[in-house]
Amino acid sequence: MLAEMGIRVWNTGEPGPATVAEAVAEPTAAATPAAPAVVQPPQPKAVPGSRALGVDAMDWAALRAAVSGCTACKLCSGRTNTVFGVGHERAHWMIVGEAPGEQEDRQGEPFVGKSGMLLDNMLRAVGLTRSDAPPAEQVYIANTVKCRPPGNRNPEPAELAQCEPFLIRQIALVQPRLILAMGRFAVQSLLRSDEPIGRLRGRVHQYQGVPLVVTYHPAYLLRNPEDKAKSWDDLCLARELLSKAPATP
Ligand code: URA
Ligand code: SF4
Repeated sequence: MLAEMGIRVWNTGEPGPATVAEAVAEPTAAATPAAPAVVQPPQPKAVPGSRALGVDAMDWAALRAAVSGCTACKLCSGRTNTVFGVGHERAHWMIVGEAPGEQEDRQGEPFVGKSGMLLDNMLRAVGLTRSDAPPAEQVYIANTVKCRPPGNRNPEPAELAQCEPFLIRQIALVQPRLILAMGRFAVQSLLRSDEPIGRLRGRVHQYQGVPLVVTYHPAYLLRNPEDKAKSWDDLCLARELLSKAPATP
């Protein structure tokens, strides 16, 4: 019954952006800030927006400022807004997507286009929201890259590598109890795996001790609605995991 409800409410309209087909570049350790794309003279002191502060030590305000001023990869030149993330800063659920699209670039918020409508419906079906709510119900949503790739092309390995420390720091600050990795880029970034989503979904992985569930990207589901039932199963698996997790502060 629930499954029917979930699937019915997940209907949306047109296809979303193209999915992904590339592997990410060399792994970038969480604690190692990526080098700027352009060689710059040494900076005398830490400047918000540069990597001089050390992304791995930033609080939310510094991290936000660093992303909004970031020029570490060439995606900065085409953006209208950076798309940092949205939701509860100590959410139990953290959702990781791919890259901003046109609407996200315009509004500066992740998943506000067609894929976002589907995501919101999926979340609602398991009692979750991006809007104000306690941390068990309000998720945190972030992408693997914070600037829109032109024409919604796939982010390139170098762009993913440059942007990754921001996502890693967001996860460290949120300290989620569960990560839902949606689509191949999120999986490549967090699990360092090139296996197809279909092979990784349906079981529990770990990201630095945090349970991680893999599922299809909403843009993929818009083009392949027959797989919505599997995504529903993935959400149920995630919910089940959290309901079994010991209550910690
Ligand atoms: N797709 C994503 O992965 N992220 C967004 O923010 C929008 C669409
Ligand atoms: Fe910086 Fe990430 Fe934007 Fe590239 S995509 S400019 S690394 S914020």
